[in-house]
Amino acid sequence: MIGIDNIAFATSDYFIDMKDLAESRGVSVDKYYIGIGQKQMSVIPPNEDIVTLGYSAARQILDKTDDIGLFILATESSVDQSKSAATFLLNFLKLPSNCVAYEIKQACYGGTAALFSAFDYVAMNPGKRALVIASDVARYPINTPGEATQGCGAVAMIISENPRILSINRATGVYSSDSLDFYRPNFTEEAIVDGALSARLYIKSLKNCLTDFTSKSNIKIEDIDYFCYHTPFVKMATKAHSHIDTAGQRNIDKTLIYNSIIGNTYTASLYLSFISLLDNIETDLSQKIIGFFSYGSGNVGQFFTGQIVDGYANLSKKPYNIATLKNRQKLSVKEYEMMIYEKISLYTQKNKLVVRKSNPRSYDFAN
Ligand code: CAA
Repeated sequence: MIGIDNIAFATSDYFIDMKDLAESRGVSVDKYYIGIGQKQMSVIPPNEDIVTLGYSAARQILDKTDDIGLFILATESSVDQSKSAATFLLNFLKLPSNCVAYEIKQACYGGTAALFSAFDYVAMNPGKRALVIASDVARYPINTPGEATQGCGAVAMIISENPRILSINRATGVYSSDSLDFYRPNFTEEAIVDGALSARLYIKSLKNCLTDFTSKSNIKIEDIDYFCYHTPFVKMATKAHSHIDTAGQRNIDKTLIYNSIIGNTYTASLYLSFISLLDNIETDLSQKIIGFFSYGSGNVGQFFTGQIVDGYANLSKKPYNIATLKNRQKLSVKEYEMMIYEKISLYTQKNKLVVRKSNPRSYDFAN
């Protein structure tokens, strides 16, 4: 058995309420709350990026590092075209120098590409473990349809033999095709997106992945107890699920709680949805089969399954996760615009808002 031995997420310390954004943009709040399905959105300050988010997620699960032989960082919001962000983290996380560390990219699919590369590495190297971090900042231009589907966050996972949370089945369904539904060329910090096309291709990819999956796997779709989706926004996941669960019997609400208040985390989003399920379902998930759909624009999709391991709940980080989300500071739309679009940090000191320019590379990991 190979799979997820431990998993944790991190997001930024700031958020906006989608009601405030709706009012500011002159759209009905129901469009965001119901039509898109988002209640809040995490906002990244200029002194944070995929490295700081990835660090905050990984430090929760790295008990020992000497048997980590592979570290893959998946992202589509990297800080450098050459030096991988994994090499910053190799240092900050004190990973061994004989660990291979690199960055991987295929839009939001990158996290899954990293997970399966890690799976194969562990299969080839008995006794070794792999670290996967999916970390992203979802950015769209101000006052565009995409603006309401931003967010930021990271998920870190240890992949090992005899995993304590999820045993992954190697039989998967995949579908790849060349499209320009969503992409970010070097000249722009924000994604260029054809929203309607991207949503259509997401569904097309899901259908094709399921066809491929059912032709290869012994597990039938009816055998799957819960489904987790790549969640660019909640409504996309619920629409996708309606294609699988036509009888409406396998509710996915619990998988969407964290995504609905953090927003899109690109590569991390599917795995955030899994953590949301682990933390929020009341039923014992032991031995349950989980289906996962990963989609990355451009585009590559993959459907796979895993089985929850007995005792998984011993690794729960629910109290920490709830506190992390509760302790985020609410921003006004003006403050959010300053942070994201003018790159000015806002620090609250003694109830007074202090505005200062910050150095995006001043990685400060004070606990
Ligand atoms: N009350 C309730 N619902 C309302 C409403 C109201 N007052 N007003 C509008 N709505 C509904 C609409 O009917 C629509 O619902 P349906 O999709 O069920 O028809 C929904 O709200 C959205 O409305 P629009 O279609 O008018 O939305 P929009 O033009 O503002 O754009 C979007 C929505 C395309 C998702 C846009 O936010 C976007 O481009 N986002 C980025 C791209 C994206 O996330 N694509 C997802 C697939 S690609 C992917 O998954 C990779 C990735 O992470 C990016």
